Amino acid sequence: MRIIKLYVLNCGIFSKILIDFTQKNQPQELICLSGVNGSGKTTIMDLIIALASFLNPQISIQNIFFDRLKPNILTRTEFAQLDILIDNKILSLVLGDEKYIQYNNDYPQAFMIVNNDIKSIIKQFEDIIVKKPVDKQDKRSIEIEELKDLKGFLTNNDSIIQKIIKKNLNLFDNLLKNLEKNIYKELDLNTRCKLPHFYLFNSHDREILDIRYSSIPKDDSRYKIVYKYNPHNDDLKKLLIFYDYAYPKEYNALIKWINTNVLIGKKIERIDRPNFRVIIKTNQGQEHVLELLSSGEESLLIIAIQLYLKASLNSVIMIDEVDQSLHPEFQEKIMEIIIKIQKEKKCQIIISSHSVNIWRAFKDEAIIRLTEVVK
Ligand SMILES: Nc1ncnc2c1ncn2[C@@H]1O[C@H](COP(=O)(O)OP(=O)(O)OP(=O)(O)O)[C@@H](O)[C@H]1O
Ligand SMILES: [Mg+2]
Repeated sequence: MRIIKLYVLNCGIFSKILIDFTQKNQPQELICLSGVNGSGKTTIMDLIIALASFLNPQISIQNIFFDRLKPNILTRTEFAQLDILIDNKILSLVLGDEKYIQYNNDYPQAFMIVNNDIKSIIKQFEDIIVKKPVDKQDKRSIEIEELKDLKGFLTNNDSIIQKIIKKNLNLFDNLLKNLEKNIYKELDLNTRCKLPHFYLFNSHDREILDIRYSSIPKDDSRYKIVYKYNPHNDDLKKLLIFYDYAYPKEYNALIKWINTNVLIGKKIERIDRPNFRVIIKTNQGQEHVLELLSSGEESLLIIAIQLYLKASLNSVIMIDEVDQSLHPEFQEKIMEIIIKIQKEKKCQIIISSHSVNIWRAFKDEAIIRLTEVVK
């Protein structure tokens, strides 16, 4: 699965733009988005994730991503089309009016089109779940009121499936049947990795949280087509403690890989299960807990571990501001890891960065310079 094109009309900074992820018509495995602040890098990644969620055979308002601060990207877009190349056929995921669709002459093409009605539904949902003021006197009655609103709203609008117009989808019969069969099922790691994933690391959420007062949940092995890294659900410390307990073989392989390829001058030494701690040991022999790592080390470790666990042949992984908090030495390190994982797992990785050191790791033609494209 490879993203090859994104066509956008009136979304954020973009009035009309065609972003070509291919080179000489060949899909690219490793792509870097660059451009000044506000040139649309995050917008592109958000849009890709939002359009990819149309692939979910059970798509409903509840499995669209909501951000408390920004209105959902679909509501801020007039038209968008994401072309994905799968087994030499194109699947186009489209939001908006069919008259703007871009047809491809090189490959057979199928379409899933969600029309603009979805926007008003999303907006109403946002008003209920995101925008309700919380500073009124009687908080409890507001909560009950909200619940009532939400329930009524969901009964009427929850399913978006009926609103998807499908064209030529028989081209992707196998893929869609496979998605339908597996979605939300508990799957073993191996099976899950063979299915398509869209995975986004946004730029703010790569940190280790204070989880002292929460329990370790059961491993969430359900298959999801689109996923955003969420430090609450994917907390690094919980993950390591859980893996050590539940999958000792996989844990040992993971730790060996991290200690060899990721951490510099220190390693993950052991899990102190009774005290709920992950112990790091420095090359000088000192020990400390995971939380004492620096923010750059946390960020590096989080990306590396998630890539190791989630990257697969059929996945598209996006990392916004990959260099955030990273010293040039660590920037080189993260690119080494990304390139290595991409080669091993054969996934597509799209990153954005403001760092010259990161750009250097890319072939010139693999850098999409948004400042120039937008002009
Ligand atoms: N409706 C709109 N019309 C015009 N511009 C808009 C609109 N909505 C958002 N923008 C602009 O889009 C930009 C946000 O784009 P985005 O977050 O994708 O940038 P970015 O390339 O990720 O930047 P950074 O490197 O700072 O993260 C902002 O500069 C904002 O002013
Ligand atoms: Mg950004």
